[in-house]
Amino acid sequence: MAQSVFAGKRIVIGVCGSIAAFKVAGWVSELAKEEALVSVVMTASAREFITPLTFAALSGNDVHTGMFDAGKEDVMAHINIGRDADVILVAPATANLMARLAIGMADDLLTTTLLASRAGVLICPAMNPRMYDHPATRRNLRTLKELGYVIIDPESGMMACKEEGEGRLAEWDTVREYLAKSLSAQDLQGQRVLVTAGPTREPLDPARFLSNRSSGKMGYALARAAFRRGAEVILVSGPTTLPCPPGVTREMVQTALEMRERVLAHAEGCSVIVKAAAVADYRPETLHEHKVKKENIEKELVLEKNPDILFELGKQKKSGQVLVGFAAESKNLAEEGLKKLRKKNLDLIAVNDIGGDRTGFEAETNQLLLISRSGTETLPFTSKAHTADLLWDRIVALL
Ligand code: CTP
Repeated sequence: MAQSVFAGKRIVIGVCGSIAAFKVAGWVSELAKEEALVSVVMTASAREFITPLTFAALSGNDVHTGMFDAGKEDVMAHINIGRDADVILVAPATANLMARLAIGMADDLLTTTLLASRAGVLICPAMNPRMYDHPATRRNLRTLKELGYVIIDPESGMMACKEEGEGRLAEWDTVREYLAKSLSAQDLQGQRVLVTAGPTREPLDPARFLSNRSSGKMGYALARAAFRRGAEVILVSGPTTLPCPPGVTREMVQTALEMRERVLAHAEGCSVIVKAAAVADYRPETLHEHKVKKENIEKELVLEKNPDILFELGKQKKSGQVLVGFAAESKNLAEEGLKKLRKKNLDLIAVNDIGGDRTGFEAETNQLLLISRSGTETLPFTSKAHTADLLWDRIVALL
């Protein structure tokens, strides 16, 4: 499997005084497990909620607290901490911290470190919904964005103060993805990409449908990786229980016809289209409004052909647009893949061996055979996440 994007990276985490500080202890632990070199800077109020010892134990490093703790702290700590950082994460970021940062104050170790560093800074606000919604906080957020800070929006939900609304610290999966993005090559920056994923469902009646074994994992991994590499990502997804990858715009569809409609609506504006979805080739000719009783079900189901979305995309492909298809095959992989590459006017096709349980449908791992106009290549057997990155490497080379 591939090495973690965090391994050996210097990540500074600034912790402010909010009850959500305890969640960040878990994040530090996760990053340390992935071999990141984590340094924590705590404000005075943060220390009212959680002790420096917790972060020291989890990060394996001294925790920085005061500007003037001579002897204990490096006297140039406010300069040194941020100087070598690969990225700085402020979490939880209070309204107070954001206000101070927005006007360039440097009145404690964290704000001074932020001002003295040239590393990218990610800010995760967490506060009461009314504080978050206050015009002053809103203005400060705008200012921080203008200054180049990346804001990871808080979530909506029930708060520790028993109020409901926007202001809950972002989830780790989202923060992890933004951190990974800040440490990754932005080789898809400026590209708008369209990824399709999952199966489609072709209903027969309100209870029954025709579908296939696609889980959506490969397409979702592709969407996630594209966001991390700087793309604007639209994911058109068939039914799956997978959560929307952070930073990705997702549109859920059910049937092949719905998928076609959404895909064609976006295709024109996208420089790359990757069709990982397993689209049902046929749908029942008749859709019954009410559940068909078993004694009335016809033994032979009459089917109607669905449009081949990828074929249509190949026909209308603009110059410079990269069109990537998938092929689900259980035999003659290279031959079938090449046929589809030509027939559908693709730049690249990723052939999935769906014969076993370690590749293709539902598996966490995959091994793709790639066929392009210039030849074939077998990717290593690896996780779908790593496979996604390897596939994007090849697509970037085609752009
Ligand atoms: N595809 C599509 N619309 C369809 C069927 C397939 O856009 N109605 C796309 C898939 O998203 C995939 C590629 O075409 O990128 C190949 O899909 P696959 O199911 O492997 O092949 P088919 O063209 O359906 O041919 P067959 O089922 O005969 O192998």
